[in-house]
Amino acid sequence: MDLTTLYMGLSLKSPLVAGASPLTGEVDNIRRLEDLGAGAVVLPSIFEEQIEQDEQLIEQMDTIGIDSYAEALTYFPSAASYHIGPAHYLEVLHHAAKALDIPIMASLNGITDHGWVNYARQIQEAGADALELNIYFIPTDPNMPGQEVEHRYVTILKAVKEAVTIPVAVKLSPYFSAVGHMATQLVDAGADGLVLFNRFYEPDIDLGQLTLLPNLKLSTATEIRLPLLWIGALSGGVRASLAASTGVESADEVIKYLLAGADVVMTSSALLRHGVDYMKVLLDGLKSWLAARDLETLDRIRGRLSQRNITDPTAFARANYIRVLQGYLPDR
Ligand SMILES: Cc1cc2nc3c(=O)[nH]c(=O)nc-3n(C[C@H](O)[C@H](O)[C@H](O)COP(=O)(O)O)c2cc1C
Repeated sequence: MDLTTLYMGLSLKSPLVAGASPLTGEVDNIRRLEDLGAGAVVLPSIFEEQIEQDEQLIEQMDTIGIDSYAEALTYFPSAASYHIGPAHYLEVLHHAAKALDIPIMASLNGITDHGWVNYARQIQEAGADALELNIYFIPTDPNMPGQEVEHRYVTILKAVKEAVTIPVAVKLSPYFSAVGHMATQLVDAGADGLVLFNRFYEPDIDLGQLTLLPNLKLSTATEIRLPLLWIGALSGGVRASLAASTGVESADEVIKYLLAGADVVMTSSALLRHGVDYMKVLLDGLKSWLAARDLETLDRIRGRLSQRNITDPTAFARANYIRVLQGYLPDR
């Protein structure tokens, strides 16, 4: 069976990609994922904000106690001995890219224009096969117009594309008034791939402490619906590769995303929940489903149920409440 997949011009041996998470930040895990059949791996993001905070902390530590007693400085290790800055990340990236055959993609979350461009260059120099832009931005300011938010995405992408030659994907938010037009703008600005979608951290409230709860829940299969809709709507309509991200819990979700038109399917929560070996379970599930239907390649299923390929394309956008409710109503 041939699961070869083209993603942003890169040839992958399978459409299953380990998405960004702490798991993919370790070379041993990446190697294991390659052995288990992953088509590619996305490293966790370099967070410019985190790097800045760490550097500030080190500066503060360096000056603590200077006036009171100089020996206090000897209690603290030097800044160089911390994993501060992108050095450790770039080292892991370099090592993985050199040692492994599958494409290694890096991910970047910048804040300043300089940061986006500067780290993107360093990532390319370290040997990444591609770069994913994790543009994590929640426009909570009620005075910020949607156009400004869209402009921000496009500006970041253009700046990064001018700085690097490796393929660049944008990990998108689903919260645009016109997701399709946003996707088109990004493709026009040079995006080689679109990752649908980023999953934003949404805080909960602790009713005992009356504080915001910083908990991060892993996804469940019910969450595939929104990305599935947009993969289905955009497949064949934009000149960029499409990666589905969110809610893969079993091979069923992988197959559904492929049928909707995803080029690759990413998974993070399932690997965190079950361990890296779960990659093989997903891949075996996909293979058995294809084998049961005598399908030797993915071309036969990819995009088969996209909006452009179904007989009733309005099914993707229609409010189906009435039809659904009819199923629940007693016969008269
Ligand atoms: C613990 C954890 C850490 C993550 N870290 C990153 C990250 O560094 N960069 C990024 O772009 N996405 C990150 N993500 C998001 C995932 O890559 C993915 O887009 C999201 O979890 C939805 O996919 P899933 O349902 O397969 O988990 C993280 C997710 C989790 C659960």
